[in-house]
Amino acid sequence: QELQLSLEQIEKGGYDHFMLKEIHEQPKAITDTFRGRMLADENIIKMSSVQDNLDKFLNANRIIIVGCGTSWHAGLVGEYLFEDLARIPVEVEYASEFRYRNPIITDKDVVIAISQSGETADTLAAIKLAKSKGAFVYGVCNVVGSSIARETHAGAYTHAGPEIGVASTKAFTTQITVLTLIALKLGQANKSLSDERFKNYIQKMQLIPSQIQKLLNIDSKVKEIAAIYKDAKNCLYLGRGFNFPVALEGALKLKEISYIHAEGYPAAEMKHGPIALIDENMPIFVIATNKGHYDKVVSNIQEIKSRAGKIIAVVTEGDVTVKEIADHVIEIPETEEALTPLLTTIPFQLLSYHIAVMLGKNVDQPRNLAKSVTVE
Ligand code: G6P
Repeated sequence: QELQLSLEQIEKGGYDHFMLKEIHEQPKAITDTFRGRMLADENIIKMSSVQDNLDKFLNANRIIIVGCGTSWHAGLVGEYLFEDLARIPVEVEYASEFRYRNPIITDKDVVIAISQSGETADTLAAIKLAKSKGAFVYGVCNVVGSSIARETHAGAYTHAGPEIGVASTKAFTTQITVLTLIALKLGQANKSLSDERFKNYIQKMQLIPSQIQKLLNIDSKVKEIAAIYKDAKNCLYLGRGFNFPVALEGALKLKEISYIHAEGYPAAEMKHGPIALIDENMPIFVIATNKGHYDKVVSNIQEIKSRAGKIIAVVTEGDVTVKEIADHVIEIPETEEALTPLLTTIPFQLLSYHIAVMLGKNVDQPRNLAKSVTVE
């Protein structure tokens, strides 16, 4: 009997959906992002686009990061990375707001534009505006030769490979990877990072692809959690510090493909509003990694518990305290806090995927959404 495979089935490489394939491609995608750049033996990060413009980055008044959607979330992680590792002030803005609010931009500013497709109309317009004011504009794009890649003064490709699923997954983690490499390089150059810390970060970074590979084994556990909460009408995602943007991204993934209303919040903001929503029907996804203000997040979890909310916590391997309080825990491998977004985001991608599949939604092409928004 003749075996007939459609082109699409071949492209999906044995996975049911592009999104699942792309989630599983992340270890390879991040390794590709590292390739030729992270030279651990020599203790350097080689990125000529940064090296050639080092003065601009190091003497910048501030770095302004612009993007939309998931790329904007990567930008928020970038803010935490640049300020923590390189001590350079950063502002992050939605490209659509930036371009229309008469922003103050000078030739001492560096603008980093983040875009998977390199074609997002608002991001492109923000770049043109920044250039007209004399700023140095650096692009972080996935699609080679895209409009944004061409319009920027310099930049780095994420090398994630084609992302077909509308909900961004590997583009997000590779964007964060590029931003981490730049932050480390700048931190080394301006001595915000000691040699020892720099070296430690490089070593921990190198472990990330294999750690994600291992983490992907939680799939069946995430599937069980998805089955329990798939009929929720509202969900809350909470995180602090480096993982606040991951909470936003987790909520966005759920909205995009499952059409379940979800909101991401910094955990400490819970008491300023979202806490009013908590009852026994409310699943709350909390990122509680061991170094990121752990005790404070634990108190947030206790507050949720006392209001009967359902707690699904993402914790570091070996966690004891949260395990006793939460309804479900998902463990991520140990790493530096600044690198945790590369790991904590994985369970949320899988969760949204499984819920969408269980609800019979069109995972790869959700209603009303486009992979790349080239109009306003
Ligand atoms: C659309 C996509 C999102 C993406 C956003 C920005 O809304 O559906 O997944 O994050 O555009 O796209 P970009 O290509 O600029 O990263």
